[in-house]
Amino acid sequence: MVKVSVTNLAGQTRDIDAEEGLSLMENIRNNDFDDLAAICGGCCSCCTCHVYVDGGDFGKLPAMEDDEHYLLEDSEHFKEGASRLSCQIEVDGSMDGLQVTIAPEA
Ligand code: FES
Repeated sequence: MVKVSVTNLAGQTRDIDAEEGLSLMENIRNNDFDDLAAICGGCCSCCTCHVYVDGGDFGKLPAMEDDEHYLLEDSEHFKEGASRLSCQIEVDGSMDGLQVTIAPEA
């Protein structure tokens, strides 16, 4: 299990034990964070799984593909160097200690 710290829209933070091989979105949803709508189910077409990567871990994550970047850039809540779509991040052991904050919906 990989420890990930998740902050919801109300500013409440809780650590979850994320399962490797699942996406970060699936892990957040599986741990009852209802703020993350993820309405396309991980198809990289909705931007409702948008999170901010905190604590300087952004550069340690796998690089994003063009389609993820295009979707995020269209979000009014996009933050360069922090925004990611959590459905596009597959959790692995290198992410232990990752801190993310759920972004407001566009
Ligand atoms: S769940 Fe729709 S883009 Fe991630």
